[in-house]
Amino acid sequence: MSQETLTITDNRTKQSYTLPIEHGTIRAIDLRQIKTGPEDFGLMTYDPAFMNTASCRSRITFIDGDRGILHYRGYPIEVLAEHCSFLEVAFLILFGDLPTETELKNWVSQITHHTMLHETTKKFMEGFRYNAHPMAMLVTTVAALSTVYPDARAIDDPNNRLLQIKRLIGKMPSIAAMSYRHSLGFPYVYPDNDLNYAENFMNMLFRMVEPKYVANPVLARALDILFILHADHEQNCSANVMRSVGSAQADPYLTTAAAAAALSGPLHGGANEEVLKMIDEIGSKENVPAYVKRSKEGHSKLMGFGHRVYKNYDPRAKIIKRTAEQVFEVTGRNPKLEIALELERIALEDDYFIKRKLYPNVDFYSGIIYQAMGFKPEMFTVLFAIPRTAGWLAQWQEMLTDSEQKIARPRQVYAGHDVRPFLPIEKRSPSW
Ligand code: CMC
Repeated sequence: MSQETLTITDNRTKQSYTLPIEHGTIRAIDLRQIKTGPEDFGLMTYDPAFMNTASCRSRITFIDGDRGILHYRGYPIEVLAEHCSFLEVAFLILFGDLPTETELKNWVSQITHHTMLHETTKKFMEGFRYNAHPMAMLVTTVAALSTVYPDARAIDDPNNRLLQIKRLIGKMPSIAAMSYRHSLGFPYVYPDNDLNYAENFMNMLFRMVEPKYVANPVLARALDILFILHADHEQNCSANVMRSVGSAQADPYLTTAAAAAALSGPLHGGANEEVLKMIDEIGSKENVPAYVKRSKEGHSKLMGFGHRVYKNYDPRAKIIKRTAEQVFEVTGRNPKLEIALELERIALEDDYFIKRKLYPNVDFYSGIIYQAMGFKPEMFTVLFAIPRTAGWLAQWQEMLTDSEQKIARPRQVYAGHDVRPFLPIEKRSPSW
């Protein structure tokens, strides 16, 4: 056995076991041989919320949380945000390498030709209540695409998978824009194939009576950069849902809807909406110290702060802060930025936040830009879901083609009753 091993002594039996270490991990299944006797099931690990469990091998995204580093397929996020378009990065994430000029041209053309939604999908969306949350509409409509594309169940066929991937990346902005227009009571706008991904999305969101929508190039580029920053983030809550639901071989529409549902939660992608609500609640710079104090006392979390993996400044937040300045040159400065900057300043000097390594995350500043661009806070998480679809699909595809993966099925530590005698109904006492 090489040096890359771990020797464990079971003090119950005094027996020693030597387990291989690979990539800084031991295989949890290797612990199963550690038993007190033939009747013993064997040792398991207990890891609520997956605090220290690697669930897969992945080649997509690398994060060094202590150093604040994020790479997609080996490229630093800063470099990609500066030089690439979102669809170029989506190609990279999905296929492993940056596209050549011809590959990019074909890819963009194929995605562009999948932006239309079937008219029945439009009718389906018309049925939503006038005040339905755009994220709930998005989740539901993505799931409903499963009824439009029953062929998507053939998940073992790589060509079929690729077709559904193109459809999902193409249609996500269309569904998102329709959710937005629905919530405002405006008619839906059809995609315009002359425009790039971000411009076309803006067209479907904002076009009113003008014959051709022309997006402000600074705002369209800012949106594209935000899409790049949100494209993937390795095994976060929604990616884990994507892999877990996908491991049961559900079709990619239902699986993506499940991942988007996870993203909608306020501790995950829903945090960007909560940040704006928090800033509104704080109201002015002067109220920041009192709000931070309340947070430290456990009354409320500082939304947009903290991360399971980053114990340093989230590199995406740094890029967003820079992009915000370019957006504000067009839109004017969002007055909420002053409150956000003050909150960041005070929190980063405070022992409570320093000790716990709580820094602003991607959601802290993104909402402030989105609001300056004219979005309502309820749309913020939808704006996160559009690019993350590329990441979810890359994670899904990697999982399906990984021979080590099977249906996801964690174990539990059972803490309930032992077998007990059955009581007839007249002898039972109320439980609550
Ligand atoms: N404000 C105040 N205290 C916090 C915060 C916060 N935002 N986040 C964590 N803490 C405290 C927490 O109370 C705990 O303190 P103690 O050790 O005294 O019990 C300590 O820091 C460790 O926190 P945790 O909850 O154990 O950390 P976690 O890894 O389970 O949670 C998190 C990570 C992102 C869910 C959490 O930091 C949080 O709820 N942040 C606010 C919501 C947010 O901004 N979410 C977006 C995350 S980034 C984008 C994305 O994933 O979609």
